[in-house]
Amino acid sequence: MRRVALIALLLVLGAAGCGGSEVVAPTAGTVEGTLPSTGGSTGDGDASDGKSLFASQGCNGCHTYTPAGSKASVGPNLDELAKHAEAANQGSVEEYTAVSIENPGAYIAPGFPENVMPAYASLADQQVADLVAFLTNP
Ligand code: HEC
Repeated sequence: MRRVALIALLLVLGAAGCGGSEVVAPTAGTVEGTLPSTGGSTGDGDASDGKSLFASQGCNGCHTYTPAGSKASVGPNLDELAKHAEAANQGSVEEYTAVSIENPGAYIAPGFPENVMPAYASLADQQVADLVAFLTNP
């Protein structure tokens, strides 16, 4: 993708040179469009940043999670996340958690309503990783 863009850039520059002897130094190509998200970011998360995000993103308004001091029960009790992830059998606890945050509709925790948890698809990968770290290894 990048390489194609760079080659296209060089071709354009070459054509624009039109036989001149001027040497055109290639500059870094621009990335067109957005890079695909890795989806399910894991690792390299910072649990203390995740703790702040858990409050600032309103997760504590729906979930019980002892390390966050929250006691809401709209969504599953996240003190039991590891157990739920195992039962869900959707990959590692980290993967399950990241997908649950970015795309909650991908798997609905048994006994809980669909379309209640908002999809946090606009969080940066680092923020998702921070939340995953806080939820899996506070
Ligand atoms: C409006 C309420 C609401 C908010 C806000 C909310 N959730 Fe949820 N969450 C739910 C519900 C309901 C479910 C269960 C249905 C499902 O699986 O989508 C759920 C499921 C989950 C699960 C899977 C839990 C399990 O035990 O299987 C995780 C992890 C999770 N949420 C994390 C978060 C995080 C992190 C945030 C903040 C970024 C958040 N939630 C914000 C309601 C909410």
